[in-house]
Amino acid sequence: MSLPSQVRLVEVGPRDGLQNEKQPVDTETKLELIARLGEAGLRAIEATAFVSPKWVPQMADAPEIMRRLERRPGVDYPVLTPNLKGFESAVAAGAREVAVFAAASESFSQKNINCSIADSLARFEPVMAAAQAAGVKVRGYVSCVVGCPYEGDIAPQAVAEVAGTLLAMGCYEVSLGDTIGVGNPASTRRMLDAVFKRVPPARTAGHFHDTYGMAIANIHAALEAGVAVFDASVAGLGGCPYAAGASGNVATEDVVYLLDGLGIETGIDLGRLVETADWISARLGREPASRVARALLAKQRKQGCTP
Ligand code: HMG
Ligand code: MG
Repeated sequence: MSLPSQVRLVEVGPRDGLQNEKQPVDTETKLELIARLGEAGLRAIEATAFVSPKWVPQMADAPEIMRRLERRPGVDYPVLTPNLKGFESAVAAGAREVAVFAAASESFSQKNINCSIADSLARFEPVMAAAQAAGVKVRGYVSCVVGCPYEGDIAPQAVAEVAGTLLAMGCYEVSLGDTIGVGNPASTRRMLDAVFKRVPPARTAGHFHDTYGMAIANIHAALEAGVAVFDASVAGLGGCPYAAGASGNVATEDVVYLLDGLGIETGIDLGRLVETADWISARLGREPASRVARALLAKQRKQGCTP
């Protein structure tokens, strides 16, 4: 299959990235990060999560984030909602798009949201109904689509089952998460081939983590298979609080560099994105995890110019 001419990137750094920070990140920094990502050209920025603050204290300021967010025209700011309580709080705070999240692994589902896969899908039913009534778009996530930190390899058929159910429930797109980053192009392709029997490629998104350095290779494999939406996190922020050992999400800079090189349009300004990666990493007291950001920043320092 030929590669797409355009790709939509969903920036998940402010949520999937910052949910995993050990040190508290203040609300001002989160809001500035979201604003900078919008300036860099991201058109979908997952802003926060309306989850239990006892489970994920880093997202406790979700209502304030959504109330104070300066919305740029043409940019979507989806938020995570695990249940109706989260959905109602999100909409009350101004959210116009939400994401429900399930897993392809029973053990991960229990650790992450304290219920079985079937119970999680049942919990989403009232969220879908309320969202439809309110005209709110719902995205679906499936975690652990290749491997699980508790169960090991996950059968592609199990992923297809959950992804197909999320689509049938009314999700406009299903994001397939290699939460612990164990996939390679072959296992990614096997998983996608199974999912495509239930969900067309145009309704899927790839969500890769870079634990084994395979995220960019997996994205290329997914592009070849027909996927044209990818989640990524500026500076490679993230991991998952319920997936020990999972390193960050693939860095948005690395994905943009790949797509620019392939001549695939994203609408994102790589230079401004790298500046944002440098800025948030400095705030967190470290270097960006992104190889592309590190290379461009080193070049910039050497030449005394902007990336
Ligand atoms: P629970 O303890 O089973 O919930 O947690 P409960 O219904 O029994 O309620 C317990 C308490 O939580 C009650 O408060 C509720 O009101 C409150 P209390 O009476 O004790 O004071 N509560 C809430 N508070 C705020 N917002 C809510 C909410 N719901 C209940 N929405 C629950 C179940 C799902 C709430 C919990 O397990 C949870 O919040 N889990 C979230 C975990 C999470 O955010 N994980 C990270 C996101 S998933 C991910 O990162 C993977 C992904 O990125 C893909 C990838 O990377 O591959 C998507
Ligand atoms: Mg992730």
